[in-house]
Amino acid sequence: MPDRDQVIDLERPSEARLYDLFLGGKNNFEVERRLFQDLVKIAPEAPELARENRRWLTEVIGRLSTDGVHQFLDLGAGLPTRQNTHEIAVRANPRAAVVYVDNDLTAISHGRALLADDRTSYFVGADLTDPGAVLKDPAVTGGLDLTKPVGIILGLVLHSISDTDRIERVIAEYLAAVPSGSYLALSHPLNPRDGSRLAEFSTAMEEKLQEAFPRVRFRTWHEVAGFFAGLDLVGPGLVDLTVWWPKADQNLSPAGAGQLMLVGLARKP
Ligand SMILES: C[S@@+](CC[C@H](N)C(=O)[O-])C[C@H]1O[C@@H](n2cnc3c(N)ncnc32)[C@H](O)[C@@H]1O
Repeated sequence: MPDRDQVIDLERPSEARLYDLFLGGKNNFEVERRLFQDLVKIAPEAPELARENRRWLTEVIGRLSTDGVHQFLDLGAGLPTRQNTHEIAVRANPRAAVVYVDNDLTAISHGRALLADDRTSYFVGADLTDPGAVLKDPAVTGGLDLTKPVGIILGLVLHSISDTDRIERVIAEYLAAVPSGSYLALSHPLNPRDGSRLAEFSTAMEEKLQEAFPRVRFRTWHEVAGFFAGLDLVGPGLVDLTVWWPKADQNLSPAGAGQLMLVGLARKP
């Protein structure tokens, strides 16, 4: 839980506000705008890639909702944007429940303001790497029925956590708390680290981000695949965004930034 006395630091970039800028939002400051310009010089398609990541998540939540999953735990949810998880989920079921979790003060304050009058969706200020605390939060214990399937969403957030083994343990803990028929949806930047042009391109993005966020780590396919241990991947498996979501191809050149993002959806057996 963020410290009550914590204040928004305008000198240090925030991942949540930077991502909001990528999505075309207005909740950002000069410090994020400078970093954004540097990143776009390396990957001009990066903003479109961020938007396609959101569209993919939208598609997945829509699919799970029509498949009978009406509860979502959206970890590293980010700032509210168009097409938030709860908006998609309630379209399929007006009683759908969503708990958003983020540890960024800007995201928490905007998220809470957005959901102030919502009776089935909540925004929790917490560190997702502490599943014990998240799962004990009253929003989770009171808002979600953990005897019924839950869609766990980890959209473009795990690259902010450098310790791969820790992520595996954290995911295992969340999955242990939900029943069979629950799902994990995850997107993650890929770095094949194989000397290829994609690896060079990905490393350039990764290093630029690390200047501002030292714990950032892009991962290989095998590292990301490890996050799905014990689950059954559905759809085309763990693939780049343009393969899972061919519509993204219309907006992204297949040999470009589209390959930078791995996405996967898996069911707990
Ligand atoms: C790039 S945004 C992604 C937002 C959204 N999930 C999506 O895919 O569109 C990453 C978000 O994760 C949050 N985040 C990073 N590390 C976190 C942590 N340890 N616990 C909770 N939130 C975290 C950041 O504050 C940011 O809002």
